[in-house]
Amino acid sequence: MLGVRCLLRSVRFCSSAPFPKHKPSAKLSVRDALGTQNASGERIKVQGWIRSVRSQKEVLFLHVNDGSSLESLQVVADSGLDSRELTFGSSVEVQGQLIKSPSKRQNVELKAEKIKVIGNCDAKNFPIKYKERHPLEYLRQYPHFRCRTNVLGSILRIRSEATAAIHSFFKDSGFVHIHTPVITSNDSEGAGELFQLEPSGKLKLSEENFFNVPAFLTVSGQLHLEVMSGAFTQVFAFGPTFRAENSQSRRHLAEFYMIEAEISFVDSLQDLMQVIEELFKATTMMVLSKCPEDVELCHKFIAPGQKDRLEHMLKNNFLIISYTEAVEILKQASQNFTFTPEWGADLQTEHEKYLVKHCGNIPVFVINYPLALKPFYMRDNEDGPQHTVAAVDLLVPGVGELFGGGLREERYHFLEERLARYLDLRRFGSVPHGGFGMGFERYLQCILGVDNIKDVIPFPRFPHSCVL
Ligand code: 4AD
Ligand code: MG
Repeated sequence: MLGVRCLLRSVRFCSSAPFPKHKPSAKLSVRDALGTQNASGERIKVQGWIRSVRSQKEVLFLHVNDGSSLESLQVVADSGLDSRELTFGSSVEVQGQLIKSPSKRQNVELKAEKIKVIGNCDAKNFPIKYKERHPLEYLRQYPHFRCRTNVLGSILRIRSEATAAIHSFFKDSGFVHIHTPVITSNDSEGAGELFQLEPSGKLKLSEENFFNVPAFLTVSGQLHLEVMSGAFTQVFAFGPTFRAENSQSRRHLAEFYMIEAEISFVDSLQDLMQVIEELFKATTMMVLSKCPEDVELCHKFIAPGQKDRLEHMLKNNFLIISYTEAVEILKQASQNFTFTPEWGADLQTEHEKYLVKHCGNIPVFVINYPLALKPFYMRDNEDGPQHTVAAVDLLVPGVGELFGGGLREERYHFLEERLARYLDLRRFGSVPHGGFGMGFERYLQCILGVDNIKDVIPFPRFPHSCVL
């Protein structure tokens, strides 16, 4: 259908050209070409990179991929069109007729009339090798080439679809999208993991801050969303987030994408948890329906068994336990932990993993954390003797913490002597509200079963590494 639309668009464009000498071929993406129903020799042009070359006595077979789909388009050419430049990795433009393929393996193929090599590729020295399934660790050395492999191609297309799915979930649920700033003067999380921002050498103003105040790359858009939630009852942001955490772990990056939401007039964690569960499930269902082949490739080759694990997560209601219950479960565990579980101590990755397993590999919300463990903005539960706040984390299989959020302290006197502007929000039309943040890369790890976070972002940034 799409293919036909593209063809029509291009035909319309041609017909408005002043003096068409001959009907030029319509340019089609590989995806559109492959999706063409009842191909009957339409003249088309495809541009992309050669994924395979098979030269027979009289026929030449090429597979051309342009990133629009996992599947490549088979090009069949007379051996007269063969040349030494047609190598794995080189970029080409192929013109010819789109015909029904005699082979069952593909629906259509391109009968080439002209093959133009746009950019040569010395396949011998190209780090990506024909027909080889390179391990993800190997590919990490080549951030400039790895997008040309099937596996990274699939992950990055899924990333793109998941981005769209998240935006459409929020739009359909009536949320307003807010562009929160990347440059900020606050440390909303108070964890001191900030990258400070300064003009480079030449521009440096003597002994002055460019902004008059110290400025940083954002660690969270939450405080800006809270400002907006004084005017819009449902807001969300989706942008890059920066943390100077000195961690080389498989789930930390110095630059990651976070989805954050803030909802006004909520006074129970239950309401937040419902949105979180719906967001996770609706986004995942959408991704599964939009790019099934890409997801299947990940599930088959990167994480065997992940398809069933994901289905299990989607079909069950997420569980809820309190922090205090979580610590009790950990204390009774037969497993020896590196960090001894104790009320008042943070949950470590090993604890999170154990808890998820204990809960039957279903995502589990852990609620009501000790006041001392969470940032200043969390709402006081006013309980005792163990003092907790209305915070919630969602723990998921394989990853651990995926979401962090909670109810915000909206009562002025609880926040006195903290942030002046934050307090102002409580003086003028304050409402109970709450929100959450989800790490986008951890979400992708969770649904695809990708072990290392560095493999689900195009250009990973982490301590001692900022390539390109
Ligand atoms: O739990 P965090 O720190 O929560 C906040 O920043 C809140 N202000 C969000 C809010 O309520 N609006 O971070 C939220 C999520 C984590 O659960 C995790 O998934 C992800 O962001 N995250 C990271 N992902 C990759 N690399 C890192 N260094 C991350 N730090 C947090
Ligand atoms: Mg957290």
